[in-house]
Amino acid sequence: MTLQAERATAASAAGPAPAPAPARPGRPWPRLDALAYGADYNPEQWPEEVWAEDVELMRQAGVNLVSLGIFAWALTEPEPGRFEFGWLDRVLGLLHGAGIGVDLATPTAAPPNWFLAAHPHVRPVTADGVALGGSSRQTYCPHAPEYREACRRIAGALADRYAGHPAVLMWHVHNEYGAPTAECHCPASVEAFRSWLRARYGTLDALNAAWSSTFWGQQYSAWEQLDTPRRTPMADVNPGHRLDFQRFTSDSLLALYTDQRDVIEDRLERAGRADVPVTTNFQLINCKSVDFWAWAREVDVAANDHYLAAERPDNHVELALCADFTRSMGGGAPWLLMEHSTSAVSWQPRNLAKRPGEMRRNSLAHVARGADGAMFFQWRASRGGGEKFHSAMLPHGGTRSRIWREAVALGAELAALREVQGSTTVADAALLWDWESWWALEQVFRPSVDLDFKERQLAYYEQLWRGHVTADLAHPSADLSGYKLVVVPQMYLCRAQWAENLRGYVRGGGTLVVSYFSGVVDEDDAVYLGGYPGALRDILGVSVDEFLPLRADWTVGLAGPALDGSGTGTGTVWAEAVELLGAQSVLSYVDGPAAGGPAVTRHRFGAGTAWYVSSRPDPATLREILRRAAADAGVAFDSETPDTLELVRREAADGTGYLFAINHGDTAVAVPERAVSAPERHEGPGHPPGRADLLTGETFAGPVEVPPGGVRVLRLLKR
Ligand code: GAL
Repeated sequence: MTLQAERATAASAAGPAPAPAPARPGRPWPRLDALAYGADYNPEQWPEEVWAEDVELMRQAGVNLVSLGIFAWALTEPEPGRFEFGWLDRVLGLLHGAGIGVDLATPTAAPPNWFLAAHPHVRPVTADGVALGGSSRQTYCPHAPEYREACRRIAGALADRYAGHPAVLMWHVHNEYGAPTAECHCPASVEAFRSWLRARYGTLDALNAAWSSTFWGQQYSAWEQLDTPRRTPMADVNPGHRLDFQRFTSDSLLALYTDQRDVIEDRLERAGRADVPVTTNFQLINCKSVDFWAWAREVDVAANDHYLAAERPDNHVELALCADFTRSMGGGAPWLLMEHSTSAVSWQPRNLAKRPGEMRRNSLAHVARGADGAMFFQWRASRGGGEKFHSAMLPHGGTRSRIWREAVALGAELAALREVQGSTTVADAALLWDWESWWALEQVFRPSVDLDFKERQLAYYEQLWRGHVTADLAHPSADLSGYKLVVVPQMYLCRAQWAENLRGYVRGGGTLVVSYFSGVVDEDDAVYLGGYPGALRDILGVSVDEFLPLRADWTVGLAGPALDGSGTGTGTVWAEAVELLGAQSVLSYVDGPAAGGPAVTRHRFGAGTAWYVSSRPDPATLREILRRAAADAGVAFDSETPDTLELVRREAADGTGYLFAINHGDTAVAVPERAVSAPERHEGPGHPPGRADLLTGETFAGPVEVPPGGVRVLRLLKR
């Protein structure tokens, strides 16, 4: 037995993007007295006799939270309006009896076949006009009123029954909105898009102006002429049209979430359980269709699903970025790793298994970066269906397997880290990330196909990571005053208020690093005139006359006093004709189309400093640029400690620090003294002397080594 839809009316009008706020205040963490540990639990895939064994093994593994019912719509509502709760009652009872909490899901990511058969027009329609099929999951149009109604109904029925259930510690709405179902081009979607545009612009004149519709004579003279952006004879539709459709799609999906959340909250309040959090699981950074900053305001607990790019040897760096991002979504508060994998996934081209110890490093790296729990997809590996070769806590081989042994050991370690719960990760730097800019940058009409939002984000993040600098991710309108260093890897679209925010930040003494092709257009994708990067020219002290994108096989030389050693580096993908308007050149182009001109510049602006990087430097050069910018900012950029050692600090309200030292290499590495000496230590009441490794119980009077592939969590005693 396994899984199993409809249409919603679109949504909210989007005004100017407001500054993201942390997750909603006053909403506590699920009532757990330890870090959360568990998985998606799909008992509906198994005969009932297996459930008791499941619960017993969960206890052995130290599981204290499971996500239940995520794809169980067809079982819970086998026909319209008829609910079968018996099975859920029994599973909840068993779990509760074993002291295991439940994160109860609404199953709306898997509409039942009866629903699709009754409402065939709820299937999503592609830009080519193809209606997608069922026999899978995620088959729904976000704008189909029948789907939206059915979602409210099932969420309401579940919450009516279980809002007061003592096992239910959290609510999990849907599963991974936007991944993959997002845009739809059916008639209901067209209608919804028109309503959204009316609400946004009020008049067609305003819409025509925002979309630069005079270009190719594409003015609209009636709302009925507006359509979703379909395939066109040219490469794509008007960029303003495309950008608004992406904003609209994100808003529509968010409305589906808030619909259900409101229904559940209403029932929680009535049951006297308003302290139970409601959330949904994000798919940062792979889900481009959803602006998660807007979502972050609507969830009680930031939660993410993370899967490694299995074939990338340094995939733990991208893991760290996603973890830092989720923490930032929650405004720095503890967050939940809702899903990751114990070993291989089943949907990449080559699903490499994790090597012994890798799952442990992955899980603990998330905890280091602020997760107060590590959960997996899934508890027991499926026998059939599309994910039968996906790893699980309990593999097909059962408890005789390495993965099971590692899962049990990890459960014990997370229990030993109980005191870390509630502490927060310390970050000196921030990278700015914004979905509107991502959407606008990666449209078809642009100077180079090599412009790649995520690539730049990851490239800058990686060099900070290798320099042992912990970073938050921030929205461009966020209060940046708490950061010594702010990096803008890619911000092609820059609202005027964002530029003003950066201006104030640098004037006030901050250090800013901006990469190429940022600050070029406003929120309507219209170019700021007078020289690029129009929105940021004064801050950076440069003006760019012309973009000079490079051929795919082109490498240009970069040279200057900013580089130690050979004094040379290289750039690829992009170059610019940069004119200095107050900035100093720290690296110039040796050859290529911008030969002799400045490539990397530094500008004193107010009490701060702004760096501009007009090419894609090789990794070593980028690292050196960031090291120098970090020196301007007073941020410790540690190039001495091997970059195989990940170092992250959490800090409790009472000042106790926890240093997570994760060795991704195959030789032992010593933890640098500077990392353990801040904050100062002394022997406090209740604390053993010296540096204590919470995982092993060992204490160290002197230097601490982290074994190859190992992890230490050192308690740094409070002042
Ligand atoms: C996630 C999804 C899970 C499962 C998992 C497999 O994206 O939420 O339901 O499909 O991928 O890796």
